[in-house]
Amino acid sequence: MNQIPDVLYADQDLTTWLIVGASRGIGLEFVRQLLQRGERIIATVREPWASHASGLWGQAGSDHGKCQMYICDILSEDSIVKFVAQLAAMQNLKIDYVVINAGVLRYPNRSTEMSFEEFAFHLHTNAIGPIITAQKLLQSNIPIGTITFMSSDSGSQGNFREMEDGFAAYAASKSALNMAIRHLAAELKRKDDDTIILAMHPGEVATDMANIALPWDVQGIITPEESVVKMIDVIQSKGIQHSGTFWTYENKPYVW
Ligand SMILES: NC(=O)c1ccc[n+]([C@@H]2O[C@H](COP(=O)([O-])OP(=O)(O)OC[C@H]3O[C@@H](n4cnc5c(N)ncnc54)[C@H](OP(=O)(O)O)[C@@H]3O)[C@@H](O)[C@H]2O)c1
Repeated sequence: MNQIPDVLYADQDLTTWLIVGASRGIGLEFVRQLLQRGERIIATVREPWASHASGLWGQAGSDHGKCQMYICDILSEDSIVKFVAQLAAMQNLKIDYVVINAGVLRYPNRSTEMSFEEFAFHLHTNAIGPIITAQKLLQSNIPIGTITFMSSDSGSQGNFREMEDGFAAYAASKSALNMAIRHLAAELKRKDDDTIILAMHPGEVATDMANIALPWDVQGIITPEESVVKMIDVIQSKGIQHSGTFWTYENKPYVW
């Protein structure tokens, strides 16, 4: 899967981004924009035949030589561990920005109706997988500048979105993610580790995930392009003093 020999980077001081969950939607848009900016990208998909990604990977490999694709399924600890081991084997790798973007929404998921399996699926993909991915990366000793988690306004406890009928498992999973993110940031601070930990709400973004008929009016839908162009600026504007904070794509602090 690794299309680009490491030697290509030997004498280049490129900013390196790792996008986890880059086959479609917001993750794919990160790759597209970062390629345009000439940055070095490590992108993960969970299936090598992901149809949305394949055109871009082909182009990235032959044209720019700056995008490397790996397999990582965040529902599988084994897959996460194998992926991180591949990165750890790269000589002199440093990652400036990690974006843990992968997530799922199976709509509807109501507390009064959802199955045990459905609830667990959301928690595993949206909370446990992202945190374990970050944990394994941090344990690998690869120098990492910032880890940004793709959270959601649905996961905010302080701004409970009561009208979101059918979002119970999704919201609870993002809320669990948020709490684990705060603990992660606090633990790193105690260890004097200066990796910056951020949570992000990308806005209401027109992707496959948002392509559902909701019985309420979703205000202010934006394109993946607008969301990502703004999120890149937000991510790059944060320092260690911001670790353990939650932001919107418009650079507004969001309530946990
Ligand atoms: N769109 C919005 O309005 C919105 C709002 C708030 C938050 N978010 C969050 O933003 C993130 C991206 O959402 P999106 O709108 O771009 O959704 P999307 O178009 O449905 O894309 C989801 C991405 O996550 C990947 N993924 C799902 N399960 C995975 C797994 N087990 N392992 C690895 N990758 C996995 C998918 O890969 P496959 O192609 O293999 O399925 C896909 O690349 C999510 O965390 C979502 O919760 C989105």
